[in-house]
Amino acid sequence: MPAVVLVGAQWGDEGKGKIIDYLAAEADVVVRYQGGNNAGHTVWAGGRQFKLRLIPSGILYPGTICVIGHGVVVDPRVLVEELDYLERQGVDTSGLRISPAAHLILPYHVALDEAEEDRKGAGRIGTTRRGIGPAYMDKFARVGLRVEDLLEEEVFLEKLAAQVAEKNALLERVYGLPPFKVEEIAAAYLPLAERIRPYVANTVTIVSEAVESGKNVLFEGAQGTLLDIDFGTYPYVTASHPIAGGACVGAGIGPTAIDRVIGVVKAYTSRVGEGPFPTELHDEVGQWIRERGQEYGTVTGRPRRIGWLDLVMVRYARRLSSLTDLALTRLDTLAGLDRIKVCVAYRDRETGEETREFPIGLRALARMEPVYVEMEGWGEEVARATRYEELPAAARRYVELVEEVAGVPVSILGIGYDRQQTIHRRPIFVPRGR
Ligand code: IMP
Repeated sequence: MPAVVLVGAQWGDEGKGKIIDYLAAEADVVVRYQGGNNAGHTVWAGGRQFKLRLIPSGILYPGTICVIGHGVVVDPRVLVEELDYLERQGVDTSGLRISPAAHLILPYHVALDEAEEDRKGAGRIGTTRRGIGPAYMDKFARVGLRVEDLLEEEVFLEKLAAQVAEKNALLERVYGLPPFKVEEIAAAYLPLAERIRPYVANTVTIVSEAVESGKNVLFEGAQGTLLDIDFGTYPYVTASHPIAGGACVGAGIGPTAIDRVIGVVKAYTSRVGEGPFPTELHDEVGQWIRERGQEYGTVTGRPRRIGWLDLVMVRYARRLSSLTDLALTRLDTLAGLDRIKVCVAYRDRETGEETREFPIGLRALARMEPVYVEMEGWGEEVARATRYEELPAAARRYVELVEEVAGVPVSILGIGYDRQQTIHRRPIFVPRGR
């Protein structure tokens, strides 16, 4: 049985949480490989809403092993808060496994994220201000503290003292902010170590043994393709690799172990934070979609920017992650619009040339204007379909256009918030060597 990677094919918030939750029902192991608590998954299960930021939502299924891999950055306070929250809701968390090599987000990372964003002013990235970028900076500068360090008091105190001294110099001298005290951080964080310790395990062995023994392993990407540090709309990106290759480096498996890659695509586009957005809507249609889709950040509460579906972007996501399937979400949100536009190509404003290739670099992207196909909309009945054939004809035409332009089959359709409101057109966890 296969290893399946699931990635966001846009700028995050594609509705991955629901699809992951849906697939997690069949998964033995669910793995997070990058990002941290900048992600926010809202999952509806049994009429109850769960909000998760760090722990894979597979935890809602008893018996599922949920892994936080090397490539994730872990804020220990958020982790413990999330464990407490789940336990209060009666969720068994014993399936969680945390890599000792995952890097820690510490209070100075959060302070630096804030300070850098504030200093940039209008030029800010619009980060989630959760310390994600600064934690990855320390990882690559090879000065970061890892989960393993938190578990050994002496090591933690020594490394922490060195980092606090450095970060205080930056905070005080560059940003004019108050310094941190080692004792205060230690007093707040060392007690968390005991809460986290039972979950720490060799995740490389756990994940590869699961893959080798034919278990169903689901790798859940956070954020989205266009937020990738290399392939996204740099510098308006996150500090990790949300693309499928990120699963290899963040969880510790080779590319040949991956059988399927699912790209999650929302029926329209949204983004939080700054940066270019070719199909952005500044009119009342955008506002209507935002309200209807409740497009406000799960982590920060910020209103999301809204635009039409951009298939040039989805084609790019297909290339970057070798997508084998798409999950198209939120068809229900668009219900009620008379006309719907879909971007099927870009036109270069300077040369007039049309292309379906996503350009490299912001300046090239800024020259592109969307070429739209306009389609008839559909009504509320979309949310009641139980089979693909029951969808309104206009919605089916939409799905078929996506398949044709993106060049990938739409295997899963999301037509409402509930787990049940999902149409599965092709099995995802099918045996290897078909
Ligand atoms: P950071 O990940 O907090 O450093 O933020 C960098 C960029 O990624 C900002 O534009 C954020 O809004 C965006 N971002 C980070 N996580 C998510 C997410 O889960 N969904 C959507 N956007 C995100």
